[in-house]
Amino acid sequence: MRVIRSIAETKKFISKIKKSNKSIGFVPTMGYLHEGHLSLVRIARKKTEFVAVSIFVNPAQFAPNEDLKNYPRDMKRDINLLKKEKVDLIFCPTEHAIYLPGYKTYVYIRDLGKKMCGITRPHHFEGVTTIVLKLFNIIKPDIAVFGAKDYQQALIIRRMVKDLDLDIKIITGKIIREKDGLAMSSRNRYLSVEQRKDATVLYRALRRIKEDYRQGFLDPKRAKKVIKQLIEKKNGRTDYIAIVNKNNLLPVKKITKGTLIALAVFFGTTRLIDNTVI
Ligand code: PAJ
Repeated sequence: MRVIRSIAETKKFISKIKKSNKSIGFVPTMGYLHEGHLSLVRIARKKTEFVAVSIFVNPAQFAPNEDLKNYPRDMKRDINLLKKEKVDLIFCPTEHAIYLPGYKTYVYIRDLGKKMCGITRPHHFEGVTTIVLKLFNIIKPDIAVFGAKDYQQALIIRRMVKDLDLDIKIITGKIIREKDGLAMSSRNRYLSVEQRKDATVLYRALRRIKEDYRQGFLDPKRAKKVIKQLIEKKNGRTDYIAIVNKNNLLPVKKITKGTLIALAVFFGTTRLIDNTVI
């Protein structure tokens, strides 16, 4: 396994791999890896002959008031975990190498990036698409794997790949959860013991709406009310509850197969997201 920080060196290495005709699988991450990340690495490992993982906490996707500085980092541990998964390349550039002085170019996906998480985080997805396109240009993968936990992110990346004619197959891996249902996230470590218990309400609320759907309750307004009540009982502060079409993120009048239920909830200052597709 190679661990490379330099863009030029990574490109050189990748061009060698390309010459040997190996298929390249890629998993972009911000590090502090957990089983959710590793599940994506395993998908890439299964499908391709050469697996690259990037570790880069991308400042462009954090707002000034967000947790960029405190975002958890543990490179040693990450490297060890990825070694065990038989990853071929870890690309971990510095911020300065990625955003050179005078950096001006951003990728902006209309509409999709302004809904849901894009309301409280107005420039977030611009930061995501910009870094992901840059990483794609450096790694030149055949396949890239994203997690369903960040549903909106995966949808936006798919849109970008289609719109910009990138020859990359995007695969989405399912949400990996803790035993009690909480979706794994690097941010879960910010939660107090009490908040950690309360946070399982996201998953429980999603399950409840799925169950209600089976019982014939199809009204999104009612579903939102039910979710909000459950969240408030557990001292969560709702950022948004979206009940939308899974392809265009537009609100639906009736919950049906293919409806996306997505939540963002604050516990203290920690913002957690989760979702399910009916
Ligand atoms: P990060 O939060 O580190 O997540 C990296 C990848 O892991 C994303 O595709 C995310 O959806 C996936 N992931 C996180 N938690 C997961 C879980 N519990 N189950 C399944 N997959 C999970 O997402 C980012 O980084 C960044 O925005 C990035 C794409 C790297 C661009 O900077």
